[in-house]
Amino acid sequence: MTSLKPVVPVELDTESPAGQYAAVRKQTEDLAAPLTAEDAMVQSCADASPTKWHLAHTSWFFETFILAPHLHGYRPFDHRFQSLFNSYYNSLGPQPDKALRNTFSRPTLDEVIAYRHHIDEHIEDMLGAGDAPDTLVKLVEMGANHEQQHQELIVTDIKHAFWTNPLRPIYQNSFSTVAGSPSSAIPQRQHNYDEGMHEIGADPGKFYFDNEAPRHKTFGAAFRLATRLVTCAEYLSFMEDKGYSRPELWLSDGWKAVQAHGWNAPLYWEKHSDEWWQFTCSGMRKVDQHEPVCHVSFYEADAFARWAGARLPTEFEWEIAASRINPEGNLLEAGRFHPRAAEAQEANQPAQMFGDVWEWTASAYLPYPGYKPMAGALGEYNGKFMSNQMVLRGGSCITPQSHIRATYRNFFPPETRWQFSGIRLADDGN
Ligand SMILES: [Fe+2]
Repeated sequence: MTSLKPVVPVELDTESPAGQYAAVRKQTEDLAAPLTAEDAMVQSCADASPTKWHLAHTSWFFETFILAPHLHGYRPFDHRFQSLFNSYYNSLGPQPDKALRNTFSRPTLDEVIAYRHHIDEHIEDMLGAGDAPDTLVKLVEMGANHEQQHQELIVTDIKHAFWTNPLRPIYQNSFSTVAGSPSSAIPQRQHNYDEGMHEIGADPGKFYFDNEAPRHKTFGAAFRLATRLVTCAEYLSFMEDKGYSRPELWLSDGWKAVQAHGWNAPLYWEKHSDEWWQFTCSGMRKVDQHEPVCHVSFYEADAFARWAGARLPTEFEWEIAASRINPEGNLLEAGRFHPRAAEAQEANQPAQMFGDVWEWTASAYLPYPGYKPMAGALGEYNGKFMSNQMVLRGGSCITPQSHIRATYRNFFPPETRWQFSGIRLADDGN
C-alpha cells in the first residue's frame, strides 16, 4: 500500500473569483491525494461514486455550462466526456447508468487529472483577463460551489468504500492532531423561541442555490430546540431500551427499513467483545460516548426523537435559531473528518449548529413559495428532486467552511445513512 499523504485543507481566497476557483480546485485534489488509482475506482454502494468520477464530473460541469457554450472557439478535451461524465442532466442527453461508474477504467486517473488541468487553464484565462461578463463569473461561482458538494461526496464515498474493504484502510490519521473529548457531556437543555413571523430563505446579496429562494415570511409557533446534538451515549440508551425492536417508535416506512436492512445500530458501528466500535476516516476506534451520533437515517432520527419524548425540528425552526449564529464549527477545515463532542456552550445559543453532522429535520424537501428553478439545463440541479426526500441542515465535519450558511438546504431520501447525518431534538415547549 502506498504511504498516505495527509490532507491539508486550504482556506478559500474569497477576495477574487479566480482565487476562489483555484482554492476550490486545489482542495478537491488535496482530498483525493491520499488515494491510489485503485482506490479512486471504487464505488461500494448505490449512493456513492468513484473518486475519479468526482474529479472528472466537477470538471465536466465547468466545461458544459461555461466553456463550451460561452468561450468562443473552445475545443473540448474529449467530446466523449460530454455524455460520460454527465450525472443526471437529461436535457443534455443520455448518460451512463450511475451504477456503472466503477467500470470506467478509461480514461485513466492521469487522463482525468489532465482533463482537470485543461479546464483550469481555460477558466483561469477567462477570469484572469478581467473582462469576463458578470453572468460568467457567477456561473464559475456556481461551479465552485457544485465542486464543494462533490468534495463532501469524495470523503463520504471513500469512507464507505474503505469500510467495505476487509483491510479497513485509513483515509487519514486526524485524531492525533486534535484535543480529546471532554470527560463528560455538557448537559442537554433547551432554548426557547417565541411564536411569530419570521423571514426564511437566502440573502439575495450573496451566493445561494435556487432551492434557498425566494426569501419569504412564515409564521411559526413557539418551540424549543436542544442545546446540543444527541450523543452516542444517548443513542446507546435508545438501543439498550430495545429501540430497534419496538414498532411503536417507528414510522411505517422506517419499520420496514429496519426489517429489510437488519438495522440494530448506526452505520459503521460494530460490537466487539461487548464494546461498540465504529469505523472512521482514521480507522476503527471505540465509540466515544460524548461525540454526536452519526450516520443515522431520518427514520432512526425520528424514532429516537419519539423514544426521547421529543421530535425533530422543522427546517424553519432550525433556520430561525441558526440565523442568529455565526456559521462556524467543526467543519472540513478543522481537519478532523469526524464529529466532535460539544464543549462549553454560550448561554444564549445552541451549540454545534454548524459542522459535526448534518441535522435531519422533520421537513419534506419542497419548493418555497414562488420558487423558480434556474434557467435551462441547470434547472435540473435541485428542483427535480423535490419529492420523497427530507431536508438536512447545518453542514458536517467534512463540509467546507465557505460552503455552509443558515439558509442552506441539503436533502436526502429518508433511509440514507452514508452521509455524516445526526440528530438534534426539538419540542413544542408545552
Ligand atoms: Fe454534480
